[in-house]
Amino acid sequence: MYVDSPDIEVIETIQELQKKLNRNERKNTTVGFVPTMGYLHEGHLSLVKHAKEQNDIVVMSIFVNPAQFGPGEDFESYPRDRERDIRLANEAGVDILFIPTVDEMYPADGGVRILPAKQAHELCGASRPGHFDGVLKVVLKLFNIVDPDRSYFGMKDAQQLAIIETFVRDFNLRTVIVRVPIVREEDGLAKSSRNVNLTPSERTEAASIYRALQIGSEMFAAGEIPEAIKQRVSDFIVSNSSGMIDYVEFLTYPGLDPVTDGAQEVILACAVKFSSTRLIDNIIMSTKDGTYVPNDDEQ
Ligand code: PAF
Repeated sequence: MYVDSPDIEVIETIQELQKKLNRNERKNTTVGFVPTMGYLHEGHLSLVKHAKEQNDIVVMSIFVNPAQFGPGEDFESYPRDRERDIRLANEAGVDILFIPTVDEMYPADGGVRILPAKQAHELCGASRPGHFDGVLKVVLKLFNIVDPDRSYFGMKDAQQLAIIETFVRDFNLRTVIVRVPIVREEDGLAKSSRNVNLTPSERTEAASIYRALQIGSEMFAAGEIPEAIKQRVSDFIVSNSSGMIDYVEFLTYPGLDPVTDGAQEVILACAVKFSSTRLIDNIIMSTKDGTYVPNDDEQ
């Protein structure tokens, strides 16, 4: 273990982190955990803010997890900047930053896989086979290493969050999962580490994703049927950007089932590809007085 600044402690090995966070030694001190793949932005810092409000110690991990990237995906080009991340995490008040290497996390990987719940077949799961197996594998490892009281996940990755909630429930994992609202740029684009890989014109065009979702959510609140909404959202994005639609879907949340009468929460979600950069976004709506309205608490 070594100290990179007077405040934050940067730890690279599992053994040292486990020793540091041993429950017998930390007694009643609570640990809030923010797992990330780094290249931090305000979305991550918002997770830290929530974790700080609710816990005594905040632990963040930065690990670009190869197990959740498929062949031909952007594992190599995923943005990385260790020094910048340490500085931002420190400024945000992270107490312990865990930055393991791939060898540290997967020293002798036996290839054991976790089969996620059926929610993983929808949305990103359909176009990224095996992605959520890899997410659950690393998340379980991190939960076992950190043993957090609470773990913080952003609603931009709403499907990931729903799958992790189901996983924690089904396997009686000790941590409590906390949902944190999406943080957006001024023009509405959801903050994402991948935004940095957009060209300037793609970056401008990418704002059309959220505008399209807003139009879709207004249509749903006005009683339009899912098929018409999905078509309108796709058309809007295609006519206002060079992005290629991967999917536009409308499902229940968090079950990710087809929407039927009486659904309490619904998600309008999409994935759009700009050259090599794939962006996702969503709006969740819940029923209020029998009408669906955007769920501001979650957005
Ligand atoms: O959301 C992410 O950044 C990653 O999927 C996670 C949860 C850190 C697992 O690698």
